[in-house]
Amino acid sequence: MRERNIGQISVSAIGLGGMPLSIEGRPDEAQAIATIHAALDAGVTLIDTADAYTLAGDDQGHNEELIARALREYGGDTSNVLVATKGGHLRPEPGPWDQNGDPAYLKEAAKASAARLGVDAIGLYQFHRPDPKVPYADSVGAVRDLLDDGVIRMAGISNADPDQIREAQQILGGRLVSVQNQFSPRFRSSLPELELCAELGLAFLPWSPLGGIGRAADLGGEGAAFEKVAQAHGVSPQQVCLAWELALAPIVIPIPGSSRPASIQDSALAAELELTAAEIEELSK
Ligand SMILES: NC(=O)c1ccc[n+]([C@@H]2O[C@H](COP(=O)([O-])OP(=O)(O)OC[C@H]3O[C@@H](n4cnc5c(N)ncnc54)[C@H](OP(=O)(O)O)[C@@H]3O)[C@@H](O)[C@H]2O)c1
Repeated sequence: MRERNIGQISVSAIGLGGMPLSIEGRPDEAQAIATIHAALDAGVTLIDTADAYTLAGDDQGHNEELIARALREYGGDTSNVLVATKGGHLRPEPGPWDQNGDPAYLKEAAKASAARLGVDAIGLYQFHRPDPKVPYADSVGAVRDLLDDGVIRMAGISNADPDQIREAQQILGGRLVSVQNQFSPRFRSSLPELELCAELGLAFLPWSPLGGIGRAADLGGEGAAFEKVAQAHGVSPQQVCLAWELALAPIVIPIPGSSRPASIQDSALAAELELTAAEIEELSK
């Protein structure tokens, strides 16, 4: 599969989003493991997870443990797979999510994530979401300390606006490598952050790149342009959507979620799908 960079690391241009494997509607464990193995078979070397991808509090870390198990049980070499996790988001009870950007909490959460992933140092750790109760600089300062202490190898942020991206880059002393924000055909308001990442040379990981769980199937219906281009290429509108996102800038690395092998197999092919300039322009309207 074609590759793109996160910091100095080269990863597949399409990653796997782990969330659908661990929240409401999640598949049984055998299907979840098969989905992760299908991603690896397809050449995916970036897997996105978070300690908060759970049904609720006592299930904390479900997704991280699942991914660690799938990697252990995979027959092939997984040494080039980057597992990107996140901290600072909580799911104490079913329903709404909560935040905790307290520095001491984040440091403990990162160590717990490393233990669940079975690694000495986390490949990429992303501060999940700004906590309005804690100064942003304090939360990102904890991520800087995690880098300095070797608990994490690379640092990213998520759900950040342009000012927060610049602030994080400054607090981390130029060591910020990635930004993960919501971006899809129906949610384009993170375009300024995407463009800023292109300017600063940071990887931009669109989350819910297909519009989100339960809405991805309607992509063709909602975006007639995606359906039209899909028919012209004989591929799915979801594949066109991911190829369009890749075409927006060389720093974009979509992380489509999957709960079935077939969806990540289809999504992975987007890395090789070439859209014409006219198609990209039409889809960007
Ligand atoms: N940082 C954050 O705050 C944040 C928030 C939300 C999500 N995320 C991350 O972003 C990832 C992706 O977001 P998401 O999972 O919410 O939404 P998404 O990727 O937009 O959509 C996921 C859904 O798309 C379907 N799908 C995937 N590829 C497909 C294909 N080629 N054809 C048809 N359907 C396809 C999947 O179906 P099946 O289930 O049937 O396979 C899945 O239900 C998450 O998994 C998570 O890692 C981060």
